[in-house]
Amino acid sequence: MANVSLYVHIPFCYSKCFYCGFFSIKYSQLIVDEYITALIKEMQHFQEQSIHSVYIGGGTPSILSIKQMQRLLNAIGKFFNLNKLQEFTFEVNPDSISIDKLKLLKSFCVNRLSIGLQSINDKLLTYLGRTYNFQLFLKIYEAARKEAFNNINIDLIYGFPKHIMNDWIQTLSTVLSLNSEHLSLYPMSIEMNTVFYKKHFNIDNKLQRKMYDIAVKMLNYNKYVHYEISSWEKRNNKSIHNVSYWNNCEYIGIGAGACGYINHIRYKNIDNVPKYISLIKTNNINVKIEHEKINKATHILESILLGLRLLENGVNIKFFKLYKQHYLALKKCLNNKTLINNAGKIKLNPKYIFVSNQILKEFV
Ligand SMILES: C[S@@+](CC[C@H](N)C(=O)[O-])C[C@H]1O[C@@H](n2cnc3c(N)ncnc32)[C@H](O)[C@@H]1O
Ligand code: SF4
Repeated sequence: MANVSLYVHIPFCYSKCFYCGFFSIKYSQLIVDEYITALIKEMQHFQEQSIHSVYIGGGTPSILSIKQMQRLLNAIGKFFNLNKLQEFTFEVNPDSISIDKLKLLKSFCVNRLSIGLQSINDKLLTYLGRTYNFQLFLKIYEAARKEAFNNINIDLIYGFPKHIMNDWIQTLSTVLSLNSEHLSLYPMSIEMNTVFYKKHFNIDNKLQRKMYDIAVKMLNYNKYVHYEISSWEKRNNKSIHNVSYWNNCEYIGIGAGACGYINHIRYKNIDNVPKYISLIKTNNINVKIEHEKINKATHILESILLGLRLLENGVNIKFFKLYKQHYLALKKCLNNKTLINNAGKIKLNPKYIFVSNQILKEFV
């Protein structure tokens, strides 16, 4: 098993952002202490597995107290073999990180931060349900640089209700001036059961498309490489962890709501924190609610769908030739020029990246 990654889910936030459909609940010190104990027990199951990238995501991992972070990071070092570790990412929100926490992360070999900024406009941040302002983000970003973090991703959202082009251009210009190694730009989607959903908010698809187009131009001008549908990098800093997902490599997912893909099994853990904790407490290591053996046909289909997200490498044409239906779909997409064949590498036509979901449907 080469190149296995590890994802740990920290499903706690101070409050719920108005657009967020990800699995997370309100932070409480007590429940998080118990949660970390449960995570550590789940990890023991994968003892000695060699890991090439770690991603601690959420939720809000930076919400953990120093003590909780120490317990979590110690356990990862204890239960996994990190001799071949290349990348260790920790997700950070500006209002829950501190210089002491940054120092601690550094001392545990975390070498990549992913900071959720979303917008530089304080009024829009409040409108989105975010609980910090741009000044605080800047302070954190500079502190992280001072602590020698030299691989930082910044998350931004665009095309949400009330978002106008001028705000987006200002956010992009300001963020570009920071020269971070990585940018993730997400077109907002209205997710079920969020505040935005309940308010029947809609997305202006045409404006969102224009925002994507301007972002592509501005980032290209600033020497960012667009290597995945929503991801840009500079100075050769692709996310090793995320690229391994898109290459359909194996990964272990730990924690409530986490997904994993290991030994040909795709699984999802129970997305309920109290139940996750109590299942683990009663020594029932099996916290999986979904569990599917991936056969060759599914593996090939997933490799095509995930691999086409990678804009530079795409997918080797040999993957499409294994099954007739994939080859027919490929021919259709090459004919209508939504996909291109570049010396045997099948890639999305840059004109259609923004509507890639529709193109990928041809293969399902
Ligand atoms: C699940 S969040 C975790 C990171 C961190 N909690 C935060 O909020 O910054 C990862 C990223 O997903 C993006 N995201 C969340 N909800 C979204 C939505 N409805 N549409 C598009 N992007 C979304 C945001 O940019 C966010 O930074
Ligand atoms: S967007 Fe991030 S901080 Fe906001 S609720 Fe979702 S996971 Fe928590």
